[in-house]
Amino acid sequence: MSDEPGRLTRLYGTPAHRAASEALAGWMSAAGMSVERDAVGNVIGRLEGERPDAPPLMLGSHFDSVRDAGRWDGTLGVLAAIAVVERLQAAGRHLAVPLEVVAFADEEGIRFGTAFLGSAVLSGRFDPAELERVDADGVSLGDAIRAYGGDPTSLDAAARPAGAYVEVHIEQGPSLDESGVALGVVTAIAGQTRAVLRFSGAAGHAGTVPMELRHDPLSAAAEVVLATEAQARETPPLVATVGRLVVEPGASNVIPGFAELSLDVRHPDDAARAAAVGRLRERAKHAGHARGVRVEWEELLDQPAVACDAALSERMVRAVEGAGLPPMRLASGAGHDAAVMAAIAPVALLFVRCAGGVSHHPDESVAAADVALAVDALARFVEDFAP
Ligand code: HGY
Ligand code: MN
Ligand code: MN
Repeated sequence: MSDEPGRLTRLYGTPAHRAASEALAGWMSAAGMSVERDAVGNVIGRLEGERPDAPPLMLGSHFDSVRDAGRWDGTLGVLAAIAVVERLQAAGRHLAVPLEVVAFADEEGIRFGTAFLGSAVLSGRFDPAELERVDADGVSLGDAIRAYGGDPTSLDAAARPAGAYVEVHIEQGPSLDESGVALGVVTAIAGQTRAVLRFSGAAGHAGTVPMELRHDPLSAAAEVVLATEAQARETPPLVATVGRLVVEPGASNVIPGFAELSLDVRHPDDAARAAAVGRLRERAKHAGHARGVRVEWEELLDQPAVACDAALSERMVRAVEGAGLPPMRLASGAGHDAAVMAAIAPVALLFVRCAGGVSHHPDESVAAADVALAVDALARFVEDFAP
């Protein structure tokens, strides 16, 4: 289910995204769950427990994607959770507490430049100011939610309690593959800053405007791109990326009048990340100043690093051992819904080996045997948590 022919792109609120939400709702319902869509479009399946009022054990991940994505980032975690429910139902098992499977509608944040929209709403952490954000076509997030059948005025009411949140996800890095181990339990999730930088200068004739009279915003932006790379290379384990660059008017014989870039900065330590972001901000200011170019820095996300819950993670380690695997622990450089859910519940995150650590790329791949082990470990975890 993709918005683009020949490659996988499934952004929030598009027809492909809608089709995916309907398929997930159908599979949840076929697995015996009651299903609802909340005000932002998260799809939530629920299996009642013996104590219906107890806060649910929540399993989930997201079903939106990046552009030209792989097939497993997010969706694997949703499908693994549904598979565990199927397994419980087939065995006629009833859990002590309710079990909810959440398919988060937006985690990547590609369409509106943010991230974690689904889990922010579900955890009651959504900032209504975000509703004013617009996509590349000028559609606001509020209107996109409405067009999707959601209700931007009742996002507050969509917050739900969780007794614990557990997510299965592909590793998206090489550690498990290099260690020859199928599964790993995550200790902590790195924090991230996302920002958009806008450089406004003066467009002009490429052949006639002398160099000293130019106000070239792309040259200023280029300086920031290289400073971003240099900063991260000089201060590991910082990673920093410019993934999108827009140049206007975009003609070979016209000096650009405007440039915009996206910035993504990550570090396991929040203070180190903040310091790096501060240095890049200064760099951008100077790059603009030196050329008479106006620089606007808009921060879109400041997600702190999050530690997974120690007790819950130990239970997950035991479940992994129960599935016949060694107790491998590792950190996550990628962001996950679990990082947001950690604000309201203890979280655990189970990683599945992906070939070569390749992710956010169509070559992303996992082995069916590894997925089977992940489903087995998750089922063991669930049965142990809520017997
Ligand atoms: O960008 C991330 O870390 C994640 O894949 N959403
Ligand atoms: Mn992703
Ligand atoms: Mn993901």
